Amino acid sequence: MTEKTNKQIRLASRPSGWVTAENFSVSEEAIPRPADGEVLVRNIYMSVDPYMRGRMNDVRSYIPPFRIGEVLQAGVVSQVVESRFDGLQEGDLVTGMLGWENYSVSDGRLLRQIPSGPAPLSYHLGILGMPGMTAYVGLMKIAAAKKGDNVFVTAASGAVGSVVGQLASIHGCHVAGSAGSDEKVALLKDEFGYNTAFNYKTSDSLPDSVRAACPKGIDVLFENVGGEIFEAALWSMRDYGRIALCGMIADYNLDEPQPGPRGMMLIVGRRLTIRGFIVSDHPKWCDEYVRKAIGWLKEGKLNYRESVAEGIENAPQAFIDMLKGRNTGKQIVQLADLD
Ligand SMILES: NC(=O)c1ccc[n+]([C@@H]2O[C@H](COP(=O)([O-])OP(=O)(O)OC[C@H]3O[C@@H](n4cnc5c(N)ncnc54)[C@H](OP(=O)(O)O)[C@@H]3O)[C@@H](O)[C@H]2O)c1
Repeated sequence: MTEKTNKQIRLASRPSGWVTAENFSVSEEAIPRPADGEVLVRNIYMSVDPYMRGRMNDVRSYIPPFRIGEVLQAGVVSQVVESRFDGLQEGDLVTGMLGWENYSVSDGRLLRQIPSGPAPLSYHLGILGMPGMTAYVGLMKIAAAKKGDNVFVTAASGAVGSVVGQLASIHGCHVAGSAGSDEKVALLKDEFGYNTAFNYKTSDSLPDSVRAACPKGIDVLFENVGGEIFEAALWSMRDYGRIALCGMIADYNLDEPQPGPRGMMLIVGRRLTIRGFIVSDHPKWCDEYVRKAIGWLKEGKLNYRESVAEGIENAPQAFIDMLKGRNTGKQIVQLADLD
């Protein structure tokens, strides 16, 4: 498919609570032309990620909020159509932060070339991209997981969690996780390296379910969710346990922040370390991960799942579906086929 115009998704209004289709608008304009030093790319795959929900609010964060009327931004993999930048030529495959749109013009320096060889192109938005890097940085560097550790992961079947489980397993940890359906729980154990797992939506008592999944307690908590499951996991932490705070998706669609987890005194009594992190602060570790992950993929040590929506106009629904847990593994949107 080759589009004659450039379809774009813009922020129409700021959500109150859950994101809805009305928060987005679709516009269509002529395909842009690159100036000197710029590149025109055709976007092939784009990523929808939980952090984008935070950018829809008008609050200060580590990344500026989207402006009303602005084309939304995402991680994309793209093919160069026309280059006026010395380092890239027509047909090259690149990745970068570009618009929710069919075609983008970018300063060539902001794009990273990707090889067409080692893995399918879409993997560069997932297991070989930002979510995989997040899993590695959080587990191996922030929480410093080591052989024999008992690791517990929330949102365990998603883009980040599915990689955390496998990395923990490769490094000799006992790994347990929680997810939102029985199908996801089965996948955790069958494909994503988890020794035990449970469905948090059908649990009668989250503290009991965590205790049963981690009978020796938790050395490393990889926290993606926050709220009640975070509180439940705190009670199972072992002395000197480490908590990598990766995200708190349970809070993203709330109008008001919730009070913190009860039991914070446990952090004192059990001498816990809690550290939040943002993956983009750690480019060296990200490069280290990608080298290792390509090797693990070749050796068949890493499994990968993705949920793929089709077409730019379906990107808002794919984003809403991901926030509601309808994705399995990494949620992406395919915008075009490779030429
Ligand atoms: N710190 C960083 O640099 C960084 C980078 C990337 C991602 N993150 C964070 O990592 C976390 C996972 O991101 P991801 O890209 O891998 O997304 P993901 O897990 O692929 O998708 C989000 C998942 O979160 C779960 N979820 C949604 N609402 C929930 C709730 N109220 N309670 C429990 N689970 C809920 C859903 O799975 P279930 O069906 O299991 O509920 C959903 O599939 C997010 O918190 C994100 O913000 C942080």
